[in-house]
Amino acid sequence: MRFSVHYVPARIVAARDISPTVRMIEIAPEGGAQSWTPGAHINLSLPIGDSGETRSYSLIGEAHPQVYRIAVKRDDNGRGGSRYMHGCEVGARLNVSEPHNNFDLSWQGTHYVLVAGGIGVTPIHSMALALAKRGAKVTVLQAARSRAELAFADDLSAALGDNIRFFVSDEGKRIDATAEVAALPADAEIYLCGPLSLVDAFRKAWRDGGRPMSRLRSETFGSSGAFAAEPFKVRVPALGIEVDVPADRSMADALEDAGVAVMTDCKRGECGLCAVDIVSCEGEIDHRDVFLSDHERHENTRICACVSRVAGGAISIDTGFRTDAQQGVGF
Ligand code: FES
Repeated sequence: MRFSVHYVPARIVAARDISPTVRMIEIAPEGGAQSWTPGAHINLSLPIGDSGETRSYSLIGEAHPQVYRIAVKRDDNGRGGSRYMHGCEVGARLNVSEPHNNFDLSWQGTHYVLVAGGIGVTPIHSMALALAKRGAKVTVLQAARSRAELAFADDLSAALGDNIRFFVSDEGKRIDATAEVAALPADAEIYLCGPLSLVDAFRKAWRDGGRPMSRLRSETFGSSGAFAAEPFKVRVPALGIEVDVPADRSMADALEDAGVAVMTDCKRGECGLCAVDIVSCEGEIDHRDVFLSDHERHENTRICACVSRVAGGAISIDTGFRTDAQQGVGF
């Protein structure tokens, strides 16, 4: 059950590779593009799977009156969205939502630190350009496996000068979250987007350093978990239902396919709308969201059904959804 997202027909008007695995795509919605703020994303409705699926992509650059620009990293082991987007030609038609922002800048900081891991550079790109344009004090830390995978590095260097540092793991250089956080002024704000391991390392360093969590904001990719995606079973005892979740489907989508309503919005593990109560679990819960608190993740009381998974077993949940018969509703 998608949470009130409105789609309009659109067309791909430009596409080009900006790294060996990342493609930049321009999408022109009918009637023009809406304005958006740095950190925003759009949802695309893609004709993949049995009934079509939606994917969210951060907007890059600056707002434009005619087009939205996104960058998509190809993931051959993913759920198919990136393969589809890399296969699209200019002129291809698809449906696009209006922009939404769950990762916006406070605009009240005195020192911003933006940390990008891999394709996590996409929201950081728009934030960095906007902050630099306003003359704000901003530092960017960008990490990638190889130098060729440092997407938008030239753009960002041009805007930020010496205020960007690169970390290339193939060259033996990784971000030391503890050292970076320790070196920041007390009033710094930090914005993170990257794999869960990077986000978790900074969250821990931030918390251990006694800094207010209100000054840390993060996004991650639903595809980055502690375990490889594998099939598992989800049971909903209140409805007497058991559903198989394939490795390439989310729990929320598999439940929807089985007729079990799950409220969703971002489908990226950010908004928390899809969080459901855990009744029991056989196996390891792989929390892949950035919405639940560390305490909730540790206690395993709730799970974000749009991105999080179970490794090696099954989970029983309560979605809060009840059939009309269970609610005693009849006509
Ligand atoms: S739909 Fe937003 S966290 Fe799952």
